[in-house]
Amino acid sequence: MNIEKIAEQFGTPLYVYDLEIIQARIDELFKTIGTYKNTQFLYAIKANFNPHIVREIITRGCGIDAVSIDEVRLGLFCGAKAENILFTENNITDDEMHESMRLGVLLNIGSLSRLEKFGMAYPGSPVCIRFNPNIGAGSHTTNITGGPDSKFEISFAEVDAVLIIAKKYNLKIIGIHEHIGSGWLQITEPLLALNTTLRLAHTFPDLEFVDVGGGFGVPYSPDQNRLDLKTLGEKIQTRFTNFCTAYGRDIQLRFEPGRYIVAESGHLLTRVNTLKQSPEGKIFVGTDTGMNHLVRVAMYDSYHPIVNVSNSEGHTKTYDIVGNICECADFFARSREMNEIREGDILDIQIAGAYGMAMASHYQFRDLPAEVLVDGDDVKVIRRRESFEERIKIFNI
Ligand code: LLP
Repeated sequence: MNIEKIAEQFGTPLYVYDLEIIQARIDELFKTIGTYKNTQFLYAIKANFNPHIVREIITRGCGIDAVSIDEVRLGLFCGAKAENILFTENNITDDEMHESMRLGVLLNIGSLSRLEKFGMAYPGSPVCIRFNPNIGAGSHTTNITGGPDSKFEISFAEVDAVLIIAKKYNLKIIGIHEHIGSGWLQITEPLLALNTTLRLAHTFPDLEFVDVGGGFGVPYSPDQNRLDLKTLGEKIQTRFTNFCTAYGRDIQLRFEPGRYIVAESGHLLTRVNTLKQSPEGKIFVGTDTGMNHLVRVAMYDSYHPIVNVSNSEGHTKTYDIVGNICECADFFARSREMNEIREGDILDIQIAGAYGMAMASHYQFRDLPAEVLVDGDDVKVIRRRESFEERIKIFNI
């Protein structure tokens, strides 16, 4: 993939995704943690919802993990079957609940209040319950969803209340779900959470699946190691197979990877437009993108590798790489050693395929980057740039 050529051809800022990497990551997941005979992967569409990418992922055998009704609709639009979509609700409205049922998509319910409303509206229906395994893990504290501070799930302490509501409305609990957080690189917490969830699973006689969520991390910075998916997969397979024996029948095991599938395929390409040296010696590299296009650094203090593709042999210097947004948090890297950067150079901000474009905004009335998908020698635009006129139209002026 010739990054510099792509930047010249399609302009910057530009998100570029390499389909070969997406393919490789899906293959790896299937081969490592997907070895139990009845495993289903639901792609967490929130990580990257470009419909071209979602279609490619669905074609490769994944269902969809959706967390909004429009993600449900998008999954269907991209070709997922309703039965291969799970709608994990969080504070949804009644209308969203009705729409999910109308579309034939199973709801994964995370509060007693919603379960009661669901039971009242749809007695006798199948449902999935999201429980808090009381353990969390994630790349940042803001990415931890299990544990005592999480707003998402129903607590184990409320299992009896769940059973009472289910009985009252004759609900069939066909799935239980946990998701401990996003971006973890160690296997201890996910395995502990799995144990807890499998213990709980015995309480529910009608299960068709257990869904252990997503969260599989990728190493962003040089000091991080790759997640040991092989060992994790072996341990999960043994534990789940033993669980099924004790449960009395084989049920499905589900995972919801988002980041792992798309993160490493993605690059945010940007052109350097201003170099500025402070009297104290700091060099600020001003780019034509900003935190509105990739907010992870400003929001979570995340690390993204950055390469100067226009001068990859240049001698190294230390830089602060910043954006064009009027906010002090508008950084991509601080005190980063880089090959010498000149105005006009193209920088490649890497591992940007997950929660990059998906979290981009029009802040400061800037347009969004275009997106291109690379499939071997084939390079195609999968999202064009919006014009000022297109963006102004929505205001009904
Ligand atoms: N399932 C559920 C219920 C989730 O809430 C999430 C992510 C996933 C699956 C997928 O997690 P993944 O495999 O992608 O780690 N914006 C943050 C990440 C937020 C994740 C939210 N939930 C970031 O940029 O790091």
